[in-house]
Amino acid sequence: MEKLIIEGGIPLRGSIKVSGSKNSALPILASTILWPGIYNFHNVPDIKDVRTMLELLKFLGSECSFKKNKVKINSIKINKHEAPYDLVKTMRASVLIWGSLLSRLNKAKISFPGGCAIGDRPIDQHLSGFQSIGYKTIVKSGYLKSIATNEIGGDFKFKMKSVTGTENLILASVLGTKKTILKNCALEPEVDDLITFLKSIGANIKKMGDSITISPVDSLKKQKKSYEIIPDRIEAGTFMYLGCLPQNKITIKNVDLGALKDVIKTVIKIGAKVEKSENKITVTAPKEIKKLNIETNPYPSFPTDLQAQLMSVLVLSGGTSKIKENVFPNRFIHVAEMRKLGAKIDVVKNTAKIIGVDTLAGAKMQASDLRASAGLVLSALCASGKSEIFRIYHLDRGYEAIDNKLKRIGAKIWRTKE
Ligand code: EPZ
Repeated sequence: MEKLIIEGGIPLRGSIKVSGSKNSALPILASTILWPGIYNFHNVPDIKDVRTMLELLKFLGSECSFKKNKVKINSIKINKHEAPYDLVKTMRASVLIWGSLLSRLNKAKISFPGGCAIGDRPIDQHLSGFQSIGYKTIVKSGYLKSIATNEIGGDFKFKMKSVTGTENLILASVLGTKKTILKNCALEPEVDDLITFLKSIGANIKKMGDSITISPVDSLKKQKKSYEIIPDRIEAGTFMYLGCLPQNKITIKNVDLGALKDVIKTVIKIGAKVEKSENKITVTAPKEIKKLNIETNPYPSFPTDLQAQLMSVLVLSGGTSKIKENVFPNRFIHVAEMRKLGAKIDVVKNTAKIIGVDTLAGAKMQASDLRASAGLVLSALCASGKSEIFRIYHLDRGYEAIDNKLKRIGAKIWRTKE
């Protein structure tokens, strides 16, 4: 395993280009199972989770190639309907092939996706959704086995907004036998990107507020041209918070500013200077970071995936801040690690109280999940002296070459074997 060594306290200045969105690429790559064909994508982030998804597609029978952020997939010969344990255990988003397999083969066998550091990650909404539109599922020796009845389509209202739940239900109903109406759907831009791609190859999908209507089609069309994955708004937000840390000034390029409204509001509230232009934003750190109280909620509210990164900024504020985590039950694992640097954070139930301190000092820390690791990197970059972050495979799942991107704006950061 690898670790990062960071010499912190150095002002960071320069530009960073955001890669394609992990959470858009994963469902779109999974959707190529839906219909046999040749598919091309660009602006695909070169990250572990994308490579895992391509491994899974190859296991099912697709031919995949991936270089220089371009992916080519030939899904003509899909001949398996199973997502095996050893692939699903490394990436929960493997559940995204479930809906596509059901549409393509009318059956699917998925290893039960386990929990992870941020919670037990249930899939009850996926299951009840599939049930409502005509798929039957049994759980047997750690696997979910789903098969289609002869009528696919129907109405389903999600109990809570679920990103991959919404995506799975869309994928499972595109080629159904009757109309599907989904209510209380997730509104994340990554869901929109999946819908845009599916409509580009002939799916009949309409979105009205948080309802999505899928009218079945008998077939999908040949892709006309390579499809561009949208930029990663969480990576963009991560670097915006880096720009808020003392003495930093960072320009983030290839940003969809419209997808970051609530995040930009927080950057302004904590006192940073923000200069926006078409698809880039420059963040200049304030003299003093202002305190802030905020809650995480489904899009378009403040995203849970940026909670740890915002916390790394509030740790150095001039007052006491509060962050309430409403989406996941256990997403404060980064708190114990930040305390090692001198942060003052108390957690009571799903609220973290952050008492601002003047400085942080480097320490050894352990990454636990993708976004927590990003928060630790930000904290280490503004802590004086040396920090080490272990188990950075968590980081590599979702951030493309983050150490190289940071080196280019002046960070003293190295990757070595643990
Ligand atoms: C997606 O996960 C993202 N992953 C997550 O990003 C993100 O944190 C999350 O949405 C919330 O925005 C991908 O898109 C691949 P949910 P997902 O279903 O779909 C509960 C990252 O770092 N729930 O929207 O798995 C669930 O427990 C990752 O990029 C049920 O109870 O999340 C959670 O509390 C981390 N039953 C809430 O809903 C279900 O059947 C939202 O989960 C489904 C979800």
